[in-house]
Amino acid sequence: MASTHVATHQPTLLEAMNSPAHQPVLLGEALTALNIEPGGIYLDATFGRGGHTEEILARLGDRGHLYALDRDPDAVSFAEQRFGDDPRFNIAHASFAQLDLLAREWRLTGACNGILMDLGVSSPQLDDPARGFSFQSDGPLDMRMNPRAGESAAAWIARADMDEIARVLKEYGEERHARRIARAIVNERELHAIETTAQLAEIVAGVPGAGDKHKHAATRTFQGIRIHINHELDELRTALSQAIDMLATGGRLVVISFHSLEDRIVKRFLRTESQSRMDPDMPLAEPVGIPRLKVLGKARHPGAVEIAGNPRARSAVMRVAERLPENGS
Ligand SMILES: C[S@@+](CC[C@H](N)C(=O)[O-])C[C@H]1O[C@@H](n2cnc3c(N)ncnc32)[C@H](O)[C@@H]1O
Repeated sequence: MASTHVATHQPTLLEAMNSPAHQPVLLGEALTALNIEPGGIYLDATFGRGGHTEEILARLGDRGHLYALDRDPDAVSFAEQRFGDDPRFNIAHASFAQLDLLAREWRLTGACNGILMDLGVSSPQLDDPARGFSFQSDGPLDMRMNPRAGESAAAWIARADMDEIARVLKEYGEERHARRIARAIVNERELHAIETTAQLAEIVAGVPGAGDKHKHAATRTFQGIRIHINHELDELRTALSQAIDMLATGGRLVVISFHSLEDRIVKRFLRTESQSRMDPDMPLAEPVGIPRLKVLGKARHPGAVEIAGNPRARSAVMRVAERLPENGS
């Protein structure tokens, strides 16, 4: 898990500004959903390259504050360079699964008027071959959003047994040929260590039936391994439940997901938290759980114009909810 320490590598301003861009997704929609009050307190839990942060800061007055975090040290260095002089801004190097900790450190329990989670990876992560996220260009098979902690994809592939690899590809990559691909990986690693993205992509491409006319053969394999290496779904579940406690009454929770596994978790979470719950031991009694959230509107998707300008937005789904008062009404 990422630490809350602020990154030590300080890029020059030139490095930071030259860092590949990320086009924020559903920017206008997310800002509207956050309903920014100039004196409010907001949290951007996935800073990335600060596309949403920049717009939130533009709408905040002198008394407003934006806290941000990212588990990627490069994102944090960028934030420090770009927004470090703004007294209304703080950034931490942390995972959003550590929101409880940050809420205590920053005294944000029950205080946030809005929390944004724009999930997944940023363009600079995807486009930098050295990060190992993409099968489009060759690089070390890493895939860690925080390269300072945890196991790289290459290390995991070298040690995981075939059943585990197949399970990850099936569950997190939704890959129909998970078993065949896992077998090909295990066969190949007996001959050569699998250490690069190109090697892995080539192994998958060699499996008959992998991929379809809309997707590169390795798309699902890379997605599955990335989700597994970064514990993305568990971190999301943890973060969502902690986020509720950070919201002030009326505060907005805005989550943008990029694939159905994430969106399913968000959707179920919002449904559960917006309904009264029954005591499982007394199913005929009065509901015990008071709803803590109210879902606002339906899932929102980018329009054709946004997708044409930013193809990476095409799978985005945004869901919004509002924190209800403690009595749930
Ligand atoms: C889609 S990008 C966010 C882009 C950002 N909204 C912008 O406009 O620049 C997702 C970011 O979330 C970060 N991230 C993913 N999982 C995280 C987690 N568990 N905790 C903190 N940051 C995370 C990634 O490192 C990445 O920088």
